[in-house]
Amino acid sequence: MMAQEAPIIEVRELETRIDTKMGPIKAVDGVSFSVRPGQTLGIVGESGSGKSITALSLLRLVPKPAAKITSGSIILDGEEILTASEARMREIRGGKISMILQDPQTSLNPVFTIGSQVIEAIATHVKASPLELLERAIEALKRVRVADPKRRVEDYPHQMSGGMKQRVVGAIALGSNPKVLIADEPTTALDVTIQAQYLKLLKDIQTETGLAIIFITHDFGVVARMCDQVAVMYAGRVVEQGPVRQIFSDPAHPYTKALLNSVPSVEEDVKRLYSIRGQPPAFWDMPAGCRFEPRCDKAMPKCKTEYPPIYESPDGDHHCASCWELESTEWTQSRY
Ligand SMILES: Nc1ncnc2c1ncn2[C@@H]1O[C@H](COP(=O)(O)OP(=O)(O)OP(=O)(O)O)[C@@H](O)[C@H]1O
Ligand code: SF4
Ligand SMILES: [Mg+2]
Repeated sequence: MMAQEAPIIEVRELETRIDTKMGPIKAVDGVSFSVRPGQTLGIVGESGSGKSITALSLLRLVPKPAAKITSGSIILDGEEILTASEARMREIRGGKISMILQDPQTSLNPVFTIGSQVIEAIATHVKASPLELLERAIEALKRVRVADPKRRVEDYPHQMSGGMKQRVVGAIALGSNPKVLIADEPTTALDVTIQAQYLKLLKDIQTETGLAIIFITHDFGVVARMCDQVAVMYAGRVVEQGPVRQIFSDPAHPYTKALLNSVPSVEEDVKRLYSIRGQPPAFWDMPAGCRFEPRCDKAMPKCKTEYPPIYESPDGDHHCASCWELESTEWTQSRY
């Protein structure tokens, strides 16, 4: 069974610092997770919690020169990528791990045909004749269900709808059969119906290929539909993670509970994201203790001074959370 397979990507204690006007910050501060082939991990959390910098760190594409990965480990398909050469990273990006961003507008070049852009992505990883590359590009477009791909390769991005453009971005990302796909809010620019089709497409491709997906989203509906596991990020750290079902039915961390309670109902303006009292702390002025303490109804004195350890659920399902409240429960301190 897939669930027993070894993780295809294993991230341990990842730390990424950024030099900002306010001083150096740890935008990613000790983040650990792993994803197995054929599985999807959702990363959720308020704006600015470090989701995108985490994703970019996995590709070693953090914003230069301000940002730098300062410690940790990323094992991708058995290989430590934090110490890999830049030349090796160019093979790995697209070849083993790819990314789809929110806005197809910024991912596609308006002056080249979509065929040439898919071909270019494949040619980085595959040595083949121009005709073979064209055939592979048509195959890649077929896989993301672009109708009549033989004709569409001649089109320019502006001749396609937003949903179709995002499919082309998918074809570029998946053109060389990577093992891990990172999707950073890939459907936020799409309307609801096109979004649903796109999510189904990703799921179908995952079933066909055993792709592991890391799905970054603000939308718990998308998490419920797409993900097996969820990691909840707050102020640069993962505060809770575990199987989707457990996180939804039995969230352990007050922040996760607040996030779930703040999800707008369908009648409300869906553009409104989370509405939790107060603001996340500034990265350059982190509380010494629990970072959620200033907003937490359950806070106790030591929450102010000591960061809580990670506790693991007694259910043996790898459901973990960092909260002092769990100290006096059946949850046990985790080795992670
Ligand atoms: N290029 C940059 N220069 C300076 N600071 C940055 C840069 N990119 C991100 N940051 C900071 O790093 C922190 C994490 O940002 P990140 O983009 O990862 O958040 P996010 O969780 O993806 O948010 P969103 O949901 O809005 O996309 C934020 O405080 C952000 O201001
Ligand atoms: S550690 Fe304390 S402040 Fe932090 S979430 Fe738990 S109870 Fe709240
Ligand atoms: Mg982001």
